[in-house]
Amino acid sequence: MSTATSYFDLDTKLIDFTDKSGSTSWTIRNAVEGVQVFGGIGSGKTSGSGKMLALKYLENGFGGLVLTAKHDEKELWQQYCKAANRSNDLLIVEPNEKNYFNFLEYESQVVGDRSITENIVQVLKTVIRASEEKSKGKSDDPFWETALDMLIANTIDLCLLAYGKVSVELLYTIAQSVFSKEELQNLNKIKANPDRKKRAFELAFDTARDNIEKQVKAWEERQDQDWLNALDSMAYEQAVCDALPQARNFKFVDEFFIESFINISEKTRAIIDFSFIGFLNSLIKDPVFSLFCRHKSTFTPEQCLEGKIILICLPVKEYHKVGRDSQIMFKYIWQRAMERRKVKENGRPVFLWADEAQHFLHEYDAEYQATARSSRIATVYISQNLPNYYANMGGEKSEYKVKSFLGTLSTKIFHANADIETNKYASELIGEGYQREESEATTSVDGKMSVTQTVSSKLEKMVRPEEFGALKTGGPQNEFLVSGYIHIQGKQFPNKFNYRKIVINQNSNSQ
Ligand SMILES: Nc1ncnc2c1ncn2[C@@H]1O[C@H](COP(=O)(O)OP(=O)(O)O)[C@@H](O)[C@H]1O
Ligand SMILES: [Mg+2]
Repeated sequence: MSTATSYFDLDTKLIDFTDKSGSTSWTIRNAVEGVQVFGGIGSGKTSGSGKMLALKYLENGFGGLVLTAKHDEKELWQQYCKAANRSNDLLIVEPNEKNYFNFLEYESQVVGDRSITENIVQVLKTVIRASEEKSKGKSDDPFWETALDMLIANTIDLCLLAYGKVSVELLYTIAQSVFSKEELQNLNKIKANPDRKKRAFELAFDTARDNIEKQVKAWEERQDQDWLNALDSMAYEQAVCDALPQARNFKFVDEFFIESFINISEKTRAIIDFSFIGFLNSLIKDPVFSLFCRHKSTFTPEQCLEGKIILICLPVKEYHKVGRDSQIMFKYIWQRAMERRKVKENGRPVFLWADEAQHFLHEYDAEYQATARSSRIATVYISQNLPNYYANMGGEKSEYKVKSFLGTLSTKIFHANADIETNKYASELIGEGYQREESEATTSVDGKMSVTQTVSSKLEKMVRPEEFGALKTGGPQNEFLVSGYIHIQGKQFPNKFNYRKIVINQNSNSQ
């Protein structure tokens, strides 16, 4: 398949659902409206609908991003790409290989309307918060998120003011050596000792102050001295901040680290320190450091728009939190990059693929999903059940959040499942219809028995929750057939409903 084609018709058919009642096409338009696959362990999610969709997307020239939960996913995608003649487009990011992405370098270059600091803060806080949600380690202090954002932003600003650049090593050493409350209260005593070895925070702070003082001095020399002398201290400060944006930034950094930090409760400070430093600590260690921080980038997310398939091989099952955090980070950066694309210039669909997707969710997913269609992002999220999503999207109170998020994925495929909640959700989504019901009533008239047969139409669930328990799960015992129900929001099948039963052959990928 040539990946040079730049015209993609949204009505291109990817899958044809045909049975005796007629046929329906499932198109690129459906793909970019998102897919959610549910099914229990071993129900055929990966080898059934997953494989079918992956091959269709590859055969049709999609670029994409693949996140991995299991180690065998790399090999699986190598096979898919080979089968679809796309091996040259597959770019595997894994330890001890030569593909690198420097996220700070990238985020410093694609700022647009935002400052470098805002850009990097957004990335770091999204990953850290996603991680907090998953571990439920959130503080009960409602201000912890604001405090965390401020800590990240001020550390980045301090780094920029002192050294004119940001690196994860600098952020880590600075964040780790910020003055404690006790130290802040005894600052004069500490500073009275000229022999002390300055820690990274103090060094950065003093370097930043020296830089600003030099700028202020040069500025003062350029001003009319009489005007300068006539200013009171507030007017002077205002004039300096107006003339020198860095001086203004330094004022905020100073206020934050020296004044505001004293007022943050010990518990909140411990949590935000732990979250921020903990994440930075995973960034300065391999494999993440080599892959995402140390080297110049050898690829960019934008290459997916030219047909590259980026697979991040840091499977969650093997690398745990580090694998998850770094993949959420790349996913978020990638989503933002895809949102910036100009579909009129390049209409190539790109897929966002996550098997065991519950690991990779973050707080902006619903928001990004809502616009994914217009950015031609064909999301495929595969997961066992709804409770998996609840647990990873903020606990018990997240039902509404999860369901509205699922509402942004138009196509849903339900495979065999023992989870009652998911089966109930599927049954309700598919909805009710009038079913013919024949009933026999036995009545006794004058001592003689008579049977009357009545036929009534009754509104009933089209697919009852327990029916999802009896679907085919592939393998030799099922002649390699995987069955499920597909539901497509707003699309009618020939049976006049927007769902139908599907059967997928694990070997041939025909339905
Ligand atoms: N390529 C294949 N050919 C035949 N059987 C397979 C193949 N891949 C997986 N299976 C079997 O099919 C069933 C479904 O597997 P899988 O698709 O991995 O399930 P899930 O992703 O839902 O956990 C399992 O019993 C598995 O052993
Ligand atoms: Mg699977």
